[in-house]
Amino acid sequence: MGWNEYAENLGLANRVTEPAVRQAMEELSIPIGSRGVDVGCGIGQHTLGLAELVSPHGKVTGLDISPDNLAVARGLIARSPISRRVQLIQGDLLHLPFHDGAFDWAWCADTLWPVAVCDDPVAGIGELARVVRPGGIVAILYWSSQNLLPGYPALEARLNSAFATTAPYLSGVSPQQHFLRALGWLREAGLEQPAARSYVAEVQAPLSPEMREAVAYLLSMMWGDLEPHVSRDDWDSYQQLCRPDSPRFIPDSVDYYGFLTYTLFYGRAVARKD
Ligand SMILES: C[S@@+](CC[C@H](N)C(=O)[O-])C[C@H]1O[C@@H](n2cnc3c(N)ncnc32)[C@H](O)[C@@H]1O
Repeated sequence: MGWNEYAENLGLANRVTEPAVRQAMEELSIPIGSRGVDVGCGIGQHTLGLAELVSPHGKVTGLDISPDNLAVARGLIARSPISRRVQLIQGDLLHLPFHDGAFDWAWCADTLWPVAVCDDPVAGIGELARVVRPGGIVAILYWSSQNLLPGYPALEARLNSAFATTAPYLSGVSPQQHFLRALGWLREAGLEQPAARSYVAEVQAPLSPEMREAVAYLLSMMWGDLEPHVSRDDWDSYQQLCRPDSPRFIPDSVDYYGFLTYTLFYGRAVARKD
């Protein structure tokens, strides 16, 4: 996939996921005027949302390993009225280029994937905590579930099952490395008051053309490569229900309702002993 396609896809997904992500950000009660870091900022969509929360005085640093994603983020942020509240920097979440306690909080969404991105998620959280002042929040967020095929629960379960055994960030991880075990990672990394909460983003008929395009992308992003891993019948059903050029494209149903969840794990950094 070309870099601009990846960036475009992050933008499409955000059309659906944004309400859940915003609720998760609000849960953290990020203070106006605070300084934070968005690690794995992608094309900067969350970075801007976080910058709105700290405005008119605070600052958010977006960090990503991909120069291509950062280039798209720069364009997005340059067009924002709060661009002065954001700076972008290239770097690796396991070796953050910041001094200890540089920020009041850290945010890391859909990036800290065990095995795919880092072998040891506890070390990843430890690095996030290192750059947050004692008492500041370290938050990691994951897309955690979806119900996008109303009326077809068994088909959706089989597609999800095939996805779970083939997706690079889900397959081959031990139970303790699964992202829904992140409360344990926070504890092991020494964070205080570890907590978890989930948030919902909903899609309801009639869909606008923009939302239709976004849902079509999500359906194909999750299940579009599963042909070798599901039965012929399931693949036919997938194509009929999930391809936007099909007359049975399920988001076009007059009674379409789907939702997905994001799960937030967060805790408070403590003073370092060394
Ligand atoms: C799925 S995207 C999430 C982007 C954004 N947080 C969001 O939720 O829209 C994952 C991002 O993590 C970045 N990434 C992957 N490995 C990384 C690493 N080791 N350090 C920093 N960023 C990394 C990728 O370049 C990509 O932009």
